[in-house]
Amino acid sequence: MTSRPQKFLVTGVAGFLGSHLLDRLLEAGHTVVGVDNVSMGRLSNVEHHSANPRFRLVQADITRKDTFDALDSDFDCVVHLAAFKIPRYGKAIDTLRINYLGTDEILQFAVRSKCKCVIASTSDIYGRNPAVPFSEESESVIGSSKVARWSYAVSKLFDEHLAFAYQESFEIPVTVLRFFGSYGPRQHLTWWGGPQSVFIDSVLNGRTIPIHGDGQQTRSFTFVTDTVEGIYQSAVNPAANGEIINLGSNREVTILQLAQLIHRLSGQPGEAKIELVPYESFTGKRYEDVRRRVPDVSLCERLLGVKAKVSLEDGLTRTIEWQKAFTAKGGK
Ligand SMILES: NC(=O)c1ccc[n+]([C@@H]2O[C@H](COP(=O)([O-])OP(=O)(O)OC[C@H]3O[C@@H](n4cnc5c(N)ncnc54)[C@H](O)[C@@H]3O)[C@@H](O)[C@H]2O)c1
Repeated sequence: MTSRPQKFLVTGVAGFLGSHLLDRLLEAGHTVVGVDNVSMGRLSNVEHHSANPRFRLVQADITRKDTFDALDSDFDCVVHLAAFKIPRYGKAIDTLRINYLGTDEILQFAVRSKCKCVIASTSDIYGRNPAVPFSEESESVIGSSKVARWSYAVSKLFDEHLAFAYQESFEIPVTVLRFFGSYGPRQHLTWWGGPQSVFIDSVLNGRTIPIHGDGQQTRSFTFVTDTVEGIYQSAVNPAANGEIINLGSNREVTILQLAQLIHRLSGQPGEAKIELVPYESFTGKRYEDVRRRVPDVSLCERLLGVKAKVSLEDGLTRTIEWQKAFTAKGGK
């Protein structure tokens, strides 16, 4: 594993994971150029580094070739995090085009730089596969193409294949990381950032917590510092080259349990007020949820020595404190 200072390109740097990865890379002495068009991220996520000479922010679109033509090509590693997620609010065409075109541009750039490329993928690619826990060899069971939510999983599966095709044809090392529900400070405050922020906001404001479906669907949530340690080690450790790695915690909770836990940790009196909301009412169209989602994380531990350490109780407590302070400042 290398410890010499390296030069990183991070896409999606102003987003949730990107800004925490930036903290980690700068703290370790590396130099970072971050690209983000701030369509979903926030400049405030990275402004604490604006005076650091080892960081430069490029506000540009990753789907455009001229974004990368304007950059040097002496990078040691590209970490590609910019993406559009499940099209709950946006359009499936954004998810598909940004994730396809952007990843192709990034991989071409990595070839020009002759450098390693770490690509963000998602636990969503396991889809409706009921056989948890998911190892990296587990099958992707994707629903109908008429259900727009699967466009995200399909776009990420395409990105994974594209990455390995570039590795084969151009001999650059690639690593694919499948994240499982990361949460923490700087998360997006809508469903884009996951259920935590929406539930915390409801609890802090004395509102009913909206749960989609029956609340018995399960997830495994990972505190952001644990996710970022996995990204960091994957980037600097050649043991990750050519691998697909699940990054997450393997503690499984139902969404109902998550809501109740947030209510308890927020110090609110009484029972949590819960409303079960049918999926169609917020998507306006057909939606399919994933029933259970739990990773097998043994490969990550074996290859990189990284295991999620922060408990859900501790992580949520820190996230609630951050969200209180952030919204008190106006949420910008
Ligand atoms: N957070 C999670 O739990 C999670 C889970 C699974 C997968 N992922 C993947 O990890 C990556 C990072 O997720 P995140 O939670 O930090 O998301 P995020 O939305 O907070 O960050 C993504 C960033 O990409 C930027 N971006 C989007 N389109 C762009 C474009 N065309 N050009 C330039 N920048 C653009 C956004 O402005 C945003 O700052 C994504 O690829 C996502 O699919 C995240």
